[in-house]
Amino acid sequence: MDSEFDSGTAELMRANERNWDARTPIHAASQFYGVDGTTPAESWFAPFEWDDLGPLANRDLVHLQCHLGVETIAFARRGARTVGLDFSGQAVEHARRIAARHGVEVDYVKSDVYDAVTALGARRFDIVYTAKGSLCYLPDLDRWAAVLADLLKPGGLAYIVEFHPILTSFGPKPDPDQQELLLRHDYLQGRGAVEHNSTHTYTDGPALPSDATAVYEWAHGLGEVVTALIGAGLTITRLRETEQLPWPRFERMVRDEQTGWWQLPPTDARVPLLYALAATKPNE
Ligand SMILES: C[S@@+](CC[C@H](N)C(=O)[O-])C[C@H]1O[C@@H](n2cnc3c(N)ncnc32)[C@H](O)[C@@H]1O
Repeated sequence: MDSEFDSGTAELMRANERNWDARTPIHAASQFYGVDGTTPAESWFAPFEWDDLGPLANRDLVHLQCHLGVETIAFARRGARTVGLDFSGQAVEHARRIAARHGVEVDYVKSDVYDAVTALGARRFDIVYTAKGSLCYLPDLDRWAAVLADLLKPGGLAYIVEFHPILTSFGPKPDPDQQELLLRHDYLQGRGAVEHNSTHTYTDGPALPSDATAVYEWAHGLGEVVTALIGAGLTITRLRETEQLPWPRFERMVRDEQTGWWQLPPTDARVPLLYALAATKPNE
């Protein structure tokens, strides 16, 4: 990593890389991601994402923290010159294979997101896209936002679609018969990384190797995200909040037949579970 984090934080990020390298082959074989073609790439997108992104033909687009590239290939199919970037060597390898299998051209680059400007050389982008389970692995959002601003061409769009921090704060009651959700985790950053140690990843599939079960996450409230982007000189043009998710995070979620996405039952309070943020780099 070129980026300079203190040795403790750098070690946590290395543990995350080990964890993602271990999860990736399991994800590539899982029904959850369905990269054999059983899950269409489009199903990972909320309809409003396409409205906000606009036409993609001949646009230069980089997808940061792209994992298996399930979303990345959808951009290439819509005509964008597409780059996917991830620090997991396994993710980049699998993403390359998946794109080749689908006959889609994507340039995948292995790099820490904090080193993306160096890794991508002189390339600058019309769109920088980051989504759904990415920001929680980043210890410092001010530095992340500066990377986004550097990667964008003047007038370019940073588009972030993330699990809402209120979603991450919720957890079901410990009593398994009671699926009621409680506020159980931090919404705000401030207490450093939270360690999650699980034998299995979030998809179907076998256990993780015992030296790669730990992963470290950082809470980022919405105000922190917005403030980081403004601090990097970007102009926020849209902030959406929605009650739907592409998969059922909690057992009690119900499917919306129209969108195919999942939401809490109608008897629950309506709260946002996902947000989408558009920010542009001013023209020089
Ligand atoms: C949940 S996935 C990305 C979300 C994507 N929408 C998906 O579900 O496939 C998180 C990705 O972030 C990557 N990642 C975590 N920290 C990173 C970092 N510091 N630099 C680059 N990639 C990172 C992981 O390797 C993993 O592929």
